[in-house]
Amino acid sequence: MKQRVFSGIQPTGKITIGNYLGAVKNWVYLQEKYDSIFCVVNSHAITTKQDPYLLREQTYDMVAILLACGIDPKHSSLFIQSEIDTHPALSWILNCNIPMGEMERMTQFKDKAQKNPKNINVGLFDYPALMASDILLYQTDLVPVGEDQKQHLELTRNVAQRFNRDFGECFKIPEPLIAKSGARIMGLDDPTSKMSKSSTAQNHAIFLLDTPKEIEQKIKKATTDSHSSIVFDPDRKGVYNLLCIYELFTQKSREEIETEFIDQGYGVLKKRIAEAIISTLSPIQEEYLKIRHQIDYLAEVLNQGREKVQPIAESTYKKAKELVGLI
Ligand code: TYM
Repeated sequence: MKQRVFSGIQPTGKITIGNYLGAVKNWVYLQEKYDSIFCVVNSHAITTKQDPYLLREQTYDMVAILLACGIDPKHSSLFIQSEIDTHPALSWILNCNIPMGEMERMTQFKDKAQKNPKNINVGLFDYPALMASDILLYQTDLVPVGEDQKQHLELTRNVAQRFNRDFGECFKIPEPLIAKSGARIMGLDDPTSKMSKSSTAQNHAIFLLDTPKEIEQKIKKATTDSHSSIVFDPDRKGVYNLLCIYELFTQKSREEIETEFIDQGYGVLKKRIAEAIISTLSPIQEEYLKIRHQIDYLAEVLNQGREKVQPIAESTYKKAKELVGLI
């Protein structure tokens, strides 16, 4: 029996190379070895204000981009979160087993609340319970995510362990799978903050659908420093971030990269990084444009994904319900 991988991505905003390198690229790599389930988490997206029409469009955009990145329906089940009702249903049961204090410690809620002071809603606070439900419903072994999701994974493990102890065996305890490199791609304009879809700063992020010109310009303007050597030094945050991006897009070793740039300046480094990003993203963009409007194809992939995973979710939910005495 293959171990099971589950992960999710929000359909809001444009997908960045941070999402790609920290998550999606690894999903593609893992999908043949594991029983893989990937979810476009649109119910999570409504914790911040969304235009309903745009949300629907962006959900399909995300499905198409995941497929274009290499998620293969032959190996992975891909579905939309809101299509399976047991996600919010189980999160209610989990809610009743998460102490307020544990939820109050979540740093993402604090960050998001600070950025959105006019819409601090209960769903935003409760977001990690729905995420725990996503993962636990599928008896997941491994959850490949970027580093920013680590605390949510810890909460998921805690609630599962507590539930199993208090009510009886129900959930598998999932392990986070956080890659050594790429788990936290930083903003190009400010290498002390995580690259994020929601930033409005012009040169903060590279999006998967950026044109070659946009990519070149953003990399050209990326923050570096006044040193002359090009080496992987985590204390030199801007250059380190750029080198990690180069490493992940080229699959070259750190040694190889440092040798490549001996006696070279940042101009050459930036040119090579832009080239590496463009050559990876061009075929993804081509495929995206080809399939984005093949609505029947996208619907077929999603139906097939949902039909495969729904019984797993229903069986876990039924068990949890019975264990807490809800029937
Ligand atoms: P989301 O949509 O913000 O991001 C999707 C994935 O991309 C990773 N990521 C990054 N990795 C490296 N560097 C970055 N700058 C960067 N930015 C984002 C995220 O860590 C994530 O893996 N809560 C989740 C979605 C979710 C989920 C789940 C994930 C909902 N239910 C169940 C796993 C399992 C989120 O908002 O991801």
